[in-house]
Amino acid sequence: VDPSLDLFVEIKKLKEEKNAIILAHYYQEADIQDVADYLGDSLGLAQQAEKTNADMIVFAGVHFMAETAKILNPTKKVVLPDLKAGCSLADSAPADAFKKFKEAYPDHIVITYINCTAEIKSLSDIICTSGNVEKIIESLPADQKIIFAPDRNLGAYINKKTGRNMLLWDGSCIVHEIFSLEKILSLKQANPDAKIIAHPECEEVLLNHADYIGSTTQLLNYTKTDAAQAYIVATETGILHQMEKNSPHKKFIPAPPDNACACNDCPYMKLNTLEKLYLCMKYELPEIAMDEQLRLAAKKPIDRMLEISR
Ligand code: 13P
Ligand code: SF4
Repeated sequence: VDPSLDLFVEIKKLKEEKNAIILAHYYQEADIQDVADYLGDSLGLAQQAEKTNADMIVFAGVHFMAETAKILNPTKKVVLPDLKAGCSLADSAPADAFKKFKEAYPDHIVITYINCTAEIKSLSDIICTSGNVEKIIESLPADQKIIFAPDRNLGAYINKKTGRNMLLWDGSCIVHEIFSLEKILSLKQANPDAKIIAHPECEEVLLNHADYIGSTTQLLNYTKTDAAQAYIVATETGILHQMEKNSPHKKFIPAPPDNACACNDCPYMKLNTLEKLYLCMKYELPEIAMDEQLRLAAKKPIDRMLEISR
């Protein structure tokens, strides 16, 4: 890319020329967040993708999110700046192994976190996100047997909160398991007025110390309305950009990882850059393509989720 190009200007031009919409997740780098038409958590992004009239959906997020957009709105062209932007949670549930697991429990229904592939969605009864998981689970009879996949931390958190005994698939997110509780607690000691807020993909030992737990949108909204002036934020660092923008007078401290070489940036989310975003809009590549039968099978449990979340 010509270094003299102002990518912000060029992206805006391409948006108009191609009737494109940029949907971005909060874990994207700040520049991408600043050019997005809509920023949100997985649920908000799926809802926006379903209802947009734009011809091209430029998905600044990870593959399962762009795939969900294509499943919900198949006549639109969906592009992702880097096809390698995957997700460790989605990787932790390979379709063959999951199919066998499901077959071993035929009397269970399958509730699956949206962080999974279209194949896994097609094997599921209802999809959920961190923003609506409680509502989805509570919509089911108390004695309903449930398989919950792929995040064992989110599943354990919901089991505890709702008193259920869902059978958990053993998957996890590499970013949310990296935090050091010891370092978080010493930060809290040094900043006694700071509240600890966490994403439910974090481990139970950390969640036990959190003042508030929620999806990225819920965490952001909490910091907007809550009276505290400082927060220790246990999720991916990208969200801090919006928190700081919305509450410039407040202090946001990223929860520290367990060793100095680690970081709590999602290596998949951060594969997308402003330059790749510009290129993918210009060349309309790489594009998300999907087999129609798979799409229809994966759409059913997403539609059930959207129905219950309305
Ligand atoms: P949210 O739906 O809360 O934005 O979470 C998405 C995600 O990938 C968390 O790691
Ligand atoms: Fe997946 Fe974790 Fe990255 Fe979210 S933060 S996209 S769950 S690897």
